[in-house]
Amino acid sequence: MSRPKISVVGAGNVGATTALKLAESEVGNVVLMDIVEGMPQGKALDLMEMGPISGYDVDIVGTHGFDETEDSDIVIITSGIPRKPGMSRDDLLSTNAKIVRDVTTEVAKRSPNSIIIIVTNPLDAMVYVAYKVSEFPRERIMGMAGVLDSTRFRTFIGMELGVSVENIHAFVLGGHGDDMVPLARFTTVAGVPITELLPKDKIDSMIQRTRDGGAEIVKLLKTGSAFYAPAASTVEMVESIILNKKKILHCCVLANGEYGINDTFVGLPVKLGKKGVEDILQIKLTKDELAQLHVSAEHVKELTQRIHQLGVI
Ligand code: NAI
Ligand code: 2OP
Repeated sequence: MSRPKISVVGAGNVGATTALKLAESEVGNVVLMDIVEGMPQGKALDLMEMGPISGYDVDIVGTHGFDETEDSDIVIITSGIPRKPGMSRDDLLSTNAKIVRDVTTEVAKRSPNSIIIIVTNPLDAMVYVAYKVSEFPRERIMGMAGVLDSTRFRTFIGMELGVSVENIHAFVLGGHGDDMVPLARFTTVAGVPITELLPKDKIDSMIQRTRDGGAEIVKLLKTGSAFYAPAASTVEMVESIILNKKKILHCCVLANGEYGINDTFVGLPVKLGKKGVEDILQIKLTKDELAQLHVSAEHVKELTQRIHQLGVI
């Protein structure tokens, strides 16, 4: 049986680290695409040469063209510019929208049955762009953000309580922006909600740190943004799809009435399996939680309107 084919467009920090983690997980062969002369080929060869030591034997091909991505099962799009200190994710809108539009057009043509995972920021608006140009059904187009925001929240809780992060599940809804909605009520340590383990002020400060999690890393790195945890988050989604694990993961998906949100891409709890988005979990939120989610969704809507005003799509 041939292995699944996974293409990663953009071989920068997130793309290359994603390719590395995909190789290590051996879920499929990898195509790494970028426009920088020689770079994707060099990184692909370097990754191939790591195989004998790391114990993987998947094929990793580097390329400047889209033809090598043909008939991919999954396409991960990380191409675009990352933010620098002082920039918000929204500052990337115009440049990245054009890149995502052009790249998606090419990959959708060559892999019309693939599942596309967008990573490029501002995330939710970029998934919208890819959805519009690919015309894929919502089951097969999604964005990575909630898994990352959740793993950050889990990390901070683990640090605070001194317990294994493996015991911690976190719940983060909404767009991948300053108004994301980490929900303490559904965030648990060995099944116990953190609201029973920590005082409100501690929880509030961890929620704020989660919202600022991307900026915290940008401030430290100064030249770009986070990539280890983003790559691992993307690969968790890929594994759930290819291995048909049906994990419940927070992903950016098109809401069509769920949580009272319409025609908007936003982070919701999703069942990910072979068909992509197989279900969107609908749980009862309090009035306040729902209001926060709607604020976040409105923000995404404003960004998508700006994309139309800019004439990108
Ligand atoms: P990077 O600058 O290291 O890599 C981006 C790569 O895209 C570069 O190598 C560049 O040459 C390439 N690229 C640009 N235009 C292209 C095109 N038309 N075709 C193919 N490749 C092209 O940036 P990094 O750190 O990898 O981040 C990539 C994107 O992912 C950024 O927009 C960043 O904000 C976003 N991001 C999103 C996260 C999320 O949670 N959704 C987490 C981390 C990063
Ligand atoms: C992050 O949250 C840059 O969105 C990216 O790290």
